[in-house]
Amino acid sequence: MARYSQNSIREVARRNDIVDVVSSYVKLKRNGNSHTGLCPFHKEKTPSFHVSEDKQLYYCFGCGAGGNLFDFIMKIENLDFVDALKFLAQRAGVTLEEEKGAYVPTKEETDAKQRVYEMNVLAARHFVENLRDPSATLAHAYVKKRGLGKDTITRFGIGYAKDDWSDLCDFLKQKGYTEQEIVTAGLAVKNEKGRVYDKFRNRLMFPIINVRGNVVAFGGRALGDDPAKYMNSPETPVFHKGSNVYNLNNAKQYGRKDGLILVEGYMDVASLHQSGIENAIAGLGTAFTPEQATLLKRYAGQIFVCYDGDEAGQNAALKAIDILAEAGNKIKVVRFSGAKDPDEYIAKKGAESFRKCIADAVSAVEFKIMSARNDFDLTDVDGKIAFVTRAANILSKIDSQIEREAYVNRIAAESGISANAILTEINKLIYREGKKTTQNAKYAERREDEQASQAVSTEASGQIATYKAERMLLNVIFFQRKAFELAKEELSGDLFAGVEHRKIYEAMLTYKLENPEADASDFLSYVDEPLKKTVAAILYREYECDSLQAAKDMIKKLKGELMNSKIKQLAKEGKAEEVQALIKKYAERRG
Ligand code: UTP
Ligand code: MN
Repeated sequence: MARYSQNSIREVARRNDIVDVVSSYVKLKRNGNSHTGLCPFHKEKTPSFHVSEDKQLYYCFGCGAGGNLFDFIMKIENLDFVDALKFLAQRAGVTLEEEKGAYVPTKEETDAKQRVYEMNVLAARHFVENLRDPSATLAHAYVKKRGLGKDTITRFGIGYAKDDWSDLCDFLKQKGYTEQEIVTAGLAVKNEKGRVYDKFRNRLMFPIINVRGNVVAFGGRALGDDPAKYMNSPETPVFHKGSNVYNLNNAKQYGRKDGLILVEGYMDVASLHQSGIENAIAGLGTAFTPEQATLLKRYAGQIFVCYDGDEAGQNAALKAIDILAEAGNKIKVVRFSGAKDPDEYIAKKGAESFRKCIADAVSAVEFKIMSARNDFDLTDVDGKIAFVTRAANILSKIDSQIEREAYVNRIAAESGISANAILTEINKLIYREGKKTTQNAKYAERREDEQASQAVSTEASGQIATYKAERMLLNVIFFQRKAFELAKEELSGDLFAGVEHRKIYEAMLTYKLENPEADASDFLSYVDEPLKKTVAAILYREYECDSLQAAKDMIKKLKGELMNSKIKQLAKEGKAEEVQALIKKYAERRG
């Protein structure tokens, strides 16, 4: 059977939203943080089928069917995993890449990758040589026009791809690489007639270097007015566009202390560097991705989003902000005027002025409100109402009431609509969301009670309270990193009374240790079939409590219960000394 790479599987999951997919089979209605409808897997008149957009899971509180996107398609279309994967890949237009050795790359694959890295380094050096060549007068003129200094050129390894069809190919072939290898590395292109020629021609070349210091790809700026102003390497065995960030290799050292400045273009990064601002990074021409956001989270204490000032740039910024926030990044948005992008801004107004813009960066909420303000005509009553409605929506998502009120007062002042009316609107929105969430939670709890009493009657050792506590604990351990850390240290699987719970806990430990960033849907792809339903049931729940404290308490309680039963057992066997020792040990741990 064909095996597909983890990357393709993840890509398919990312490009198909479970709510969209399910919607083509089930009529769903938004209901708080769930979407609900009539379950397609059992007969019912009132909806108990829930789909979570956040978690990308579905769960039916009626029949207990549950799982991720792939499980849903497997079940409803009656397909095995591979066919469900193909079905969803086609739906989203993803090309699946086959993987021969599942997780472990074969020696050939590793060697092939190694050779791509080598070619990339050789190419980068070759481009640098080309730029140094006195005959490259056009390139020199361009570099001068863009104001790129020697140090900057050296720092970024900027080079030049000649206006020639085979300069790089000739060079690499002479170094012992085949045409096919050069094409695989994305450095050459093969046309329909089978002719192979250099991909980058007459361009200023920016090598893209990953955080491990390997050259993974190139971005090339046309010197002339080629319709493709920038050309980037295609996907290759060592390069996935969505998972690299330009200049993170240099900037990462400043990320914790100063934060990182996210700009749109290579030239912006270079100009900022040239004026002493070294913590700028850029996406790679495509829309900012969740993978990039997760990567940045690892290095940045704070991200300053600083996109181009035009409409396209500002819209891209709004999207990037949500993606960055989703991955847990702290965000500020930099605003500047009088220039189209940071590169031009620095040239016109200088570094000090730019630093001031960074210092004046606004919060994500502030930026969203500003941008809403731009979308409407505030001299007009309808415009005012539309603006205030949008603003209320944005504000209803803030947790801090104090912060909310500060914004409300300002919006009231500028719209002429009373702060009271705006607050009422916000509270209505919050209440509506909250009520739906509470309803869902109550419903889930009632169903769990029923399931618990069924399970307990078949599983003699358990008690309803323990059963519920264990499920809550598993949920919290999965979703809260701190609880996971705590459990990892303190909690061994045999403390769980439920056999299924124990297996799930052990699977969770193994999986999360290897895949710390994995989400609920990923985990569902990993667990064995018989556990799936239970895992879906557990992960679907939302618990409203101080979860970390709750986890601590529960771990303590589970330990206590186990200790008790051990003591009883030993007492029965008349081992008084061991009982004493155990009690003492337990008392010490508690203290
Ligand atoms: P910009 O067009 O804003 O770049 O694109 P820029 O830096 O201002 O360009 P110049 O050189 O100063 O005129 C921002 C980024 O979008 C990607 C590139 O990564 C670029 O750095 N891009 C842009 C492309 O991939 N292809 C294009 O045709 C244009
Ligand atoms: Mn730009």
